[in-house]
Amino acid sequence: MSLLCNYEPEEEDNEERFLLPNVETTEEVEWYTPGGFHPVHLGDTYDDGRYRIVHRLGAGGFATVWLARDEKEKKWVALKVILAEKSVSLGENSHIGYQAASSFSGESKLVAELRRFTIDGPNGHHLCLVLPVLGPSSSQLSSNFTCRLKPWLARRASYQAVKAVSAIHAHGLCHGDVTTANILFNLLDIDHLGEADIYRLFGSPVTDELQIESGEATGPEAPRYIVKALDFLSSTSNIIGSDVALIDFDQCFSMSSPPEKMLGTPAEFLAPEVAVGLPASPASDVWALGCCIFRLRSGEGPFSNYEVTSPVDLLRIVIQTLGDIPLEWQDTLWDYYGQPTKDPSKGKPLSKWEGERSLKDLVYRIWEQPEGNVVETGTGRPEYKAWDARDEEENKPFPPCFSDMVWKPTAVKVDNTYIFGYNDESLALLEAMPKIAEREAALLYDLLSKIFVYDPQKRPTASELLNHPWFQMDGQPD
Ligand SMILES: Nc1ncnc2c1ncn2[C@@H]1O[C@H](COP(=O)(O)OP(=O)(O)O)[C@@H](O)[C@H]1O
Ligand SMILES: [Mg+2]
Repeated sequence: MSLLCNYEPEEEDNEERFLLPNVETTEEVEWYTPGGFHPVHLGDTYDDGRYRIVHRLGAGGFATVWLARDEKEKKWVALKVILAEKSVSLGENSHIGYQAASSFSGESKLVAELRRFTIDGPNGHHLCLVLPVLGPSSSQLSSNFTCRLKPWLARRASYQAVKAVSAIHAHGLCHGDVTTANILFNLLDIDHLGEADIYRLFGSPVTDELQIESGEATGPEAPRYIVKALDFLSSTSNIIGSDVALIDFDQCFSMSSPPEKMLGTPAEFLAPEVAVGLPASPASDVWALGCCIFRLRSGEGPFSNYEVTSPVDLLRIVIQTLGDIPLEWQDTLWDYYGQPTKDPSKGKPLSKWEGERSLKDLVYRIWEQPEGNVVETGTGRPEYKAWDARDEEENKPFPPCFSDMVWKPTAVKVDNTYIFGYNDESLALLEAMPKIAEREAALLYDLLSKIFVYDPQKRPTASELLNHPWFQMDGQPD
């Protein structure tokens, strides 16, 4: 087959209007434009003064999420303010998910919406969901070198995530966006806290002025400043609970009518059949769950690295791990953006990545926290000094109140050298770290090797997964 493909997209107008703010944020600031995000400020009130914005909780591809005080019921809520353009469609999709969630009551690990209202602003009409406030996402608490979950909590959270997905499937629905960013830890009861207590616990919000590159003043379409999301681990007392809930029903759909367009899930969580353009299904939610489980236990996604940004990249790394895709998928062509297509003028056949990796190896190499955060191999390693700008905060463990739940890899010293990021020296340090115990590795590998199979029909269902012995290692989970 010819590899010729002359298709290149036309130049896109990618000009950026705003300067990048100096606070970490996950929202795309260019979307402060008509049809986009609503400009929210601290102290703003919504719904006739009922909700007052006190802090930022997060942002995703479709919404900004805020901690707000419900002045009527005297409690804390999360306000999810959705992109104007998506407010109608996401409102309808998510409605079925939230309805299902509310019919399960608190026990189900699905977050039910409390209310919804609309905000009319300079960028259009925005749907605003009022949700119970939850804590940090499992992405934040299980993230490479910055934060790792204690093994018991990784297993507990994984079990609860599977339970949530199985509950939604039991309602004839698919979640469609099962990712670690959509699995949130709960909070202990904070309704008795006032605004000053919140600021005392987490610090006052950190903000940075939003500026236009050309120097002109921002208009009403943009907020005057961007707010950094509050960091639940920055507090000296722990209000994070040990249960998780599944959030974000934006891409929820009925099993009987899967969406024709590919879901907007990050590539690393896409099931391979969805990557080649087949419909999403309960089995693709289960694949995504497998990715979450591995991430919760190891700190990394099984199919994620900086090169995996599109469906074709996902397929390439899955092929490296599981071998060739089924024959019937092999005539899929791939366009410039790494999306599947059947049109030969728009795409070309898959070019694979070299090299192999094995799922078994990935599991057996999961590194654990060493006793006392210290590893002594007896090798005289020089203290690592090359990276002068390193922040000493990075090497401090989390406050003791979190030590039952999480640990910080960059606070671990191997032969006098702190663990840091990925490069050859750091990989050598990681070799010296203790590894997951053989018994657990065998169970986890067994679980994941059942999930990560190409044929969606052969994958276990979410409810079948619940009986797997890996989840029972700490006794019967709840
Ligand atoms: N109820 C909530 N309580 C606390 N934080 C939340 C809540 N809902 C969302 N968040 C935070 O906001 C982020 C984006 O929310 P999400 O509903 O996933 O939006 P999107 O549809 O844009 O992905 C989440 O990853 C989480 O960090
Ligand atoms: Mg989300």
